[in-house]
Amino acid sequence: MNFLGKNIVVTGSASGIGLATAEAFTNAGGRVILADLNADKAREEAKRIGKSAIAIPLDISKDDSIAVFALEALKQVGEIHVLANVAGWGKVQPFIENDAAFWDSVVDINFLGPVKLTRALLPGMMERRSGTIVNVSSDAGRVGSLGETVYSGAKSGIIGFSKGLAREMARYSINVNCVCPGPTDTPLFARVPEKYKDAFIRAIPMRRLAKPAEIAHAVMFFASGEAGYITGQVLSVSGGLTMVG
Ligand SMILES: NC(=O)c1ccc[n+]([C@@H]2O[C@H](COP(=O)([O-])OP(=O)(O)OC[C@H]3O[C@@H](n4cnc5c(N)ncnc54)[C@H](O)[C@@H]3O)[C@@H](O)[C@H]2O)c1
Repeated sequence: MNFLGKNIVVTGSASGIGLATAEAFTNAGGRVILADLNADKAREEAKRIGKSAIAIPLDISKDDSIAVFALEALKQVGEIHVLANVAGWGKVQPFIENDAAFWDSVVDINFLGPVKLTRALLPGMMERRSGTIVNVSSDAGRVGSLGETVYSGAKSGIIGFSKGLAREMARYSINVNCVCPGPTDTPLFARVPEKYKDAFIRAIPMRRLAKPAEIAHAVMFFASGEAGYITGQVLSVSGGLTMVG
């Protein structure tokens, strides 16, 4: 896969899957914008990744931050060819113990944020009649996940959003697809309580966590020219955890 000449926004790229995705795109020749709430870490990682990678701060849960980010990104690189919505957040807790502020954060970060950033970057793609959008959902959004009930709802939402948008954007040659990781070895998963971690891993036919790079390669495939005739699709990358017909 070759991304020479492509400008690529990867959200959540200061850590975990987003960081692995930013590195993979850079190694394939792309110019990556690391977009993350943790601006210092994103800057540090952009410097480490080197080549043409840059970092621009983004809080995907805030409208004004999304607007400033989109303006700055377009100012710095001119046009965006690929948007990878990877940033996400959750916490394992029984639904009955959740409070409303927690729900708001889960929905803002995992669903509405990617919707709003997509809306901000889409006009350029529509004008040029080309572009790819890859949304990172979760197997939780396909089959549900214990203790992640509202997160599962938000991740299902992004799957439906991807399919609807894929239908609307096909006439502009803009592909929209969804990658659903299963449990993956990242700082987000490290925060899951031990008793849940074991249960999650036991449920995976391959009996191990995914490596962040294994998810990144699926994101990169959907973003590539090789996937030009694929849109509105959902791919689980989860060691066989989810086998959906
Ligand atoms: N790790 C897993 O087991 C797993 C499983 C399924 C799906 N996912 C999904 O994969 C994606 C990446 O997760 P990860 O495991 O790499 O997590 P991570 O915590 O390692 O990285 C997430 C990144 O997103 C950033 N972020 C959080 N809130 C943000 C905000 N408001 N605005 C901008 N950036 C923000 C964080 O600063 C961090 O750098 C998420 O969408 C997550 O829901 C992860």
